Amino acid sequence: GLSTAAALAPRPPVTGAELRSAVPLPPPFQVPLPIPAVLKPVGTSGGADRYRITQRETSAQILPGVTTPLWTYEGTFPGPTIESRRGRPVTVTHRNELPVPTVVHLHGGRTPAASDGYPTDLVLPGGPHAHPGRAHAGHGMHDPRAVVTDLTRDYTFPLDQRPALLWYHDHRMDHTAPAIWRGLAGMHIVRDDAEDALGLPAGPRELPLMIADRAFAADGTLAYPALPEGPGVREPYLAGVLGDVILVNGAPWPVHETDAARHRLRVLNASNARHYELEAVTDDGRRLDLVQIGADQGLLAAPVTHRSLPIAPAERYDLVVDFSGVPMGGLVRLVNRLGSGRTRDVMAFRIARAAADDSRVPRTLSADLPDWRRPDAVRVRDFAFRAGRMRDGHGWLIGGRPFDPARPDVVTRLGDVEIWRLVADVHHPVHLHLVGFRVLSRRGRPPLPHDAGLKDTVSLRPGESVEIITRFDGYRGRYLFHCHNAEHEDMGMMANLEVV
Ligand code: C2O
Ligand code: CU
Repeated sequence: GLSTAAALAPRPPVTGAELRSAVPLPPPFQVPLPIPAVLKPVGTSGGADRYRITQRETSAQILPGVTTPLWTYEGTFPGPTIESRRGRPVTVTHRNELPVPTVVHLHGGRTPAASDGYPTDLVLPGGPHAHPGRAHAGHGMHDPRAVVTDLTRDYTFPLDQRPALLWYHDHRMDHTAPAIWRGLAGMHIVRDDAEDALGLPAGPRELPLMIADRAFAADGTLAYPALPEGPGVREPYLAGVLGDVILVNGAPWPVHETDAARHRLRVLNASNARHYELEAVTDDGRRLDLVQIGADQGLLAAPVTHRSLPIAPAERYDLVVDFSGVPMGGLVRLVNRLGSGRTRDVMAFRIARAAADDSRVPRTLSADLPDWRRPDAVRVRDFAFRAGRMRDGHGWLIGGRPFDPARPDVVTRLGDVEIWRLVADVHHPVHLHLVGFRVLSRRGRPPLPHDAGLKDTVSLRPGESVEIITRFDGYRGRYLFHCHNAEHEDMGMMANLEVV
């Protein structure tokens, strides 16, 4: 319920200070847009695919002239993309060669709790930096030369869910934000036959776009504030960390040369704390329609056309943009209306070739969207997402309490439909594990056009209240809900969701 502690909360900063890079920034739209490699299974048997991912340090040249050390999945940022079919299970064996413990969560996955990446379910470090004696009890404790064997973990994903763009990222307790910032994020696309049959733009005209802001120190390393300790360092961290460089698929303000045809843009905001409002603008200042065909959890019932589209951390939008009317050689810029200076630009498309286009956007996209109604709900819960005092200073609280892995916050029954009323002090993108939900209302009024479809993350703007409705089905076990401003999440804004 709403806590009185929230009423006593200190006045929180609305937006964080943006970190300034200490290296020269390249002009926009010079670097070609990279497309993350699709990971190949190491084995396929019994209708399931097996993958192996090694988490390791590497260096990359992201900005010209400097080298940036990264934490990566398989040596790249973003990590490799996994492509799956609906209902075809996948096991990913993660091996941790990083200097710290990690946790992997498949965001948007309907995953049994054992593979959902609970923040204390660690994959212990086993790489060259690991200290065998410290790793864990049971192995290597008595003989310092003993091999630490527990440095891998199998995550099993049934993927019995609607086709969608999911993403995987680190989720370690109190340390998620810096780990994602250093590079621990990758995409996972689920497809099915019904979606393939729609005739949407495909192949080279379907582009996964992971947007993330970063800042760079003079030596090329990623700048990140020290973990909050004193009052001086706490403030920029408290609001969430913003960078002054916009990366798409790991490249700064990239450009993609392509055909004058419809494109399917699968946009993910993987930024720790930055919100964007995207629009597609031609050289002569014309705004192209953003035709939304899908939300976080897959296709909408019918397309929704936007002139601009807000996207909060962890949200995904599946968009079709038609470049056919753009003059040959022209540039279409993807612009962030909320940015200023360099953070206004995101990326650009250079329209290089006339081309045949037999893609289409059907009027009916999907017929299997759940349609929960108010009377279906067996209970209503209230949660306030607000700043507050924690034992060691200011933090972010849900219902007046910081995250405690030992405390069940929500206990619900498998199959129950519930309405959750969420209120926020500042901007909080609220994410539920396990389930997709629908937005019922915003500020006591009908949802906005971009609230359409099945979502797993909903953006609460300052002072806003949002009602969501969902059915807790799939699996029993201990899950989470939290703010997906990654710094807020690390500073307490997370709670347990137990399905029994
Ligand atoms: Cu994208 Cu709990 O996470
Ligand atoms: Cu938040």
